[in-house]
Formats: sequence, structure tokens, C-alpha cells
Amino acid sequence: MKVLVTGGAGFIGSHVVDACAHEGYEVVCVDSLDPAVHPKAPDYLRGDVDYRFEDLRSWQPSADVENVGAIVHLAALGGVTRASREPANVIDANCRGTARLVEYASRLPELKHVIVAGSFSVYGSNYEYACPECGVTRDASRQESDLASNRYEVYCRNCNKEARILPITESAPPSPLETYGASKYMQELCFRGFSRAPVTVLRFSSVYGDRLRLDDGEATIIARLAGWIRAGEQPLLFEDGRQIRDWVYVGDIVAAVLSILKGKPVPAVVNVCSGVPTRLTEACESIASAYGVSCVPKILGGYRTGDMRHCLGDPAALKRLLERDPVSFKDGAALAFRPDSGRFLEGNKPCAEFLSHTA
Ligand SMILES: NC(=O)c1ccc[n+]([C@@H]2O[C@H](COP(=O)([O-])OP(=O)(O)OC[C@H]3O[C@@H](n4cnc5c(N)ncnc54)[C@H](O)[C@@H]3O)[C@@H](O)[C@H]2O)c1
Ligand SMILES: [Zn+2]
Repeated sequence: MKVLVTGGAGFIGSHVVDACAHEGYEVVCVDSLDPAVHPKAPDYLRGDVDYRFEDLRSWQPSADVENVGAIVHLAALGGVTRASREPANVIDANCRGTARLVEYASRLPELKHVIVAGSFSVYGSNYEYACPECGVTRDASRQESDLASNRYEVYCRNCNKEARILPITESAPPSPLETYGASKYMQELCFRGFSRAPVTVLRFSSVYGDRLRLDDGEATIIARLAGWIRAGEQPLLFEDGRQIRDWVYVGDIVAAVLSILKGKPVPAVVNVCSGVPTRLTEACESIASAYGVSCVPKILGGYRTGDMRHCLGDPAALKRLLERDPVSFKDGAALAFRPDSGRFLEGNKPCAEFLSHTA
């Protein structure tokens, strides 16, 4: 089968491309090599993959890509910070690019499946919390008076007890808070009503793995933590550093994509996350241990308006798809943050070994 991977020169896309080529699929990749992402051409591009270095917005597919059997749509301009700096470009690239992909996909006679990379950013702050006394609440707002006295958790408005975040499920209504999340939701919506083939949206939490760009100043928190620790610098953590995040190992994304391509039944939307709540301070420990260094983060205290204290997904659908638990950050960090990571590894060894062990 011929598989089209958009964004296949990027961090996640390159792993998907490696795995698809390894599985024997014929791989075509469309990627604009966006200069902000790729100041120079990546060194992991493959000789056995048909790269089309084009922007989806202006791509004119040739007749030899009319026989594509599956599309994995990963192309997007990423990042909340970038989207706030250049909203028109991000909306245009992500939404118009996806709309053009829909036009192309609508006329593919052999298309069996479309996989769209979604994001937890579509959920915004739509999380529910459980108070041990009062039950479930949607109100996760934090009081200035608490924050000023270094009480950073979410406290129940009724009884003031600490409330626990509940893992968000795919049925939570999307409510993106900013431009990037809005563009990711629009990418999902572009495929509404698409009838040529089933569409699955894989909503990724925050992803880590080999080839994550650790030197990108606008990167996700996990890339920044790893970048600091790898450079021997002290990670800087706001609040008390005990914010909770749910990071997913790139190998689990690849495994989910492969399962779908092999025809495993899958719902229309799947959270791709670990479901394991991990505090930033714990993440620093795991990364430092993977690099074989010691690390004491600098706790800055304070609080930035709009920062989310917790982020956690329910991976039940992913578990059914993978027929196993996703990897916890503690285990995944050892795969992702090795002293030699960031450099090209022949045949993408860590991810390939991971997949062969978990298949
Ligand atoms: N990395 C994460 O933590 C994360 C979390 C949630 C969702 N996602 C989503 O996963 C997908 C892949 O993310 P990534 O981390 O690999 O990003 P990335 O920036 O490393 O890769 C994206 C690739 O898409 C290409 N691209 C961007 N716009 C394009 C366009 N209009 N036409 C053609 N190519 C284009 C870029 O050149 C880049 O190579 C994206 O859709 C992203 O929104 C990523
Ligand atoms: Zn209560």
C-alpha cells in the first residue's frame, strides 16, 4: 500500500515515515521544510522515501500519487508561542493546508483510511476535578489569594480541600483557548463529513522522543527541560515545580498509526497520551537519570496568568488500540534522552527496537 505522510520530515512524522518504510509500505511524504522548523535540511531523510518538498497549500499532486491507500496528516505549524506571533500564517498553513488535503483525498479511488494529528490543545482548560468531599466540579480556577501564599493546587470552592484532576476523555467538548489550538480543531473539522474513507483523529498530548528539537526556544516544556539538562543548565520551574503533565512517547504514536494502517478497529477520536500524571520535578529526575547527570531544578515560585496547573488524558481507547499500556514518562525518558540522542542513528534504532518489543 502507498502511504502519504504529510509533515513527514518533522519530529513525529520522521518516526512515522521510518516505521512505515520498515513495514514495507511505499511512502510518499509532503513537507514544506518550514524554515523555522528546519534551519537546514534534516539529516535523517531516507533514500527509500519519495519526498515532495512542497507546501500543502500550493501542492499540485501528480498522477503517481492518485493511488494512495492511506494518509497520515501530520503537517502543521506548531506551537502556542508561534501562533500568537504569526496567527495568520499558522491559521492559513494549518487550515487551508488541510482543506487542500481534503480536496486531494476526496478523489483518491483506493483510499482506505485517513489519520489526522490532533492535539490536546483543542480541550483548552476543559478539565474536570474531583473533590474528596463534594464530588466532581468543572471549576478549576485558582484564587489569587492561594497563589500568593504558594498554594498552587486546585482547591474546591465549597470546602477548600485539594481537588484532583480527572483524566480528560475524548467526549469532552473541544474548547481551544488560543490560535494554535483553534487551528488544530479546524484541522479536525476540515474532515467532517468526509465520506471517501474512515477518518481517525489522534489527539496527542505533549510528545517526546528522539529528534525532539531541544534547542528550540519556543519548544514545549518537555523539550526545554531536556535541553537545559543536556546542556548542564538548571531547569527553571515556575510555581513549586510540581505541575502535572501527561507526556506521550513518540513510539506509542507510531504504534497507534501502524495498528490503524493494519486495519485494527478504532474510534473516530483517540487520545494519545500516557495517562500517567507526572510532575515537572519528577520529569527532571527521569531526564537527568537518562542522561546520567544530576539535576536540581531552580524553583522560581510565582505564577503566570493562564498557566495550567494540570494536564492529564484518559488513554483507554489508545490502550485498546495498542493492546497494552502506553509508556510512562519514567520509562520513555530512558528511550528518548540518551547521551547520543539528537544525532542520526542508523535505522532509527531506539524507536524501531521499542516497536519490535511491543508489537
Ligand atoms: N510535538 C507535540 O508535542 C505535538 C502535540 C500535539 C500535536 N502535535 C501535532 O503533531 C503533528 C506533528 O508535530 P511535530 O511535533 O512533528 O512538528 P514538526 O514541526 O516537527 O513537524 C511538522 C512538519 O510539518 C511541516 N509543515 C508545516 N506546515 C506545512 C504545510 N503547510 N505543508 C507541508 N508541510 C508543512 C514542517 O516543515 C514540519 O516538517 C502536528 O500536526 C502537530 O500539531 C504535536
Ligand atoms: Zn469540596
